[in-house]
Amino acid sequence: MTENPPYYQRHIFFCLNERGGDEACCARHKAQAAFDRCKSQSKAQGLLGAGKVRVNKAGCLDRCAGGPIAVVYPEGVWYSYVDESDIDEIVQSHLRDGVVVERLLTPPDVGR
Ligand code: FES
Repeated sequence: MTENPPYYQRHIFFCLNERGGDEACCARHKAQAAFDRCKSQSKAQGLLGAGKVRVNKAGCLDRCAGGPIAVVYPEGVWYSYVDESDIDEIVQSHLRDGVVVERLLTPPDVGR
C-alpha cells in the first residue's frame, strides 16, 4: 500500500470554548478574534487549502490555565497567545515557514 501525503500540511486549532461563571475559558481572552485573524492572515498569504494550511475552531482542549490556546499539527505544538501580533507571528513563522515560535509555547505542565 502506498502512503498518501497528508491532506493538509499543517492544521491549527483554536479553542473557542466559553464557560459561565468565573471559570477560566479561552473565549474570555478574545479567542474568536484570534481565530478570525489567523484565518484572514493565512488567506491573504495564500496559505489555505489542500496540501497547505487549515485553520479550525475547537472546543476545550483541556489546557485552559494557559489560555487562550491554539495547537498546530502534525507537530503537536501548543501556543498561548496574547494579541494579534502573536497570531501574525504564528502564521508567518510556523504555518508558512515551519519554524516554531518558541516565545509563545505553552509551558509543558499547564493543564486545565
Ligand atoms: S477553555 Fe480553552 S483550553 Fe479549555
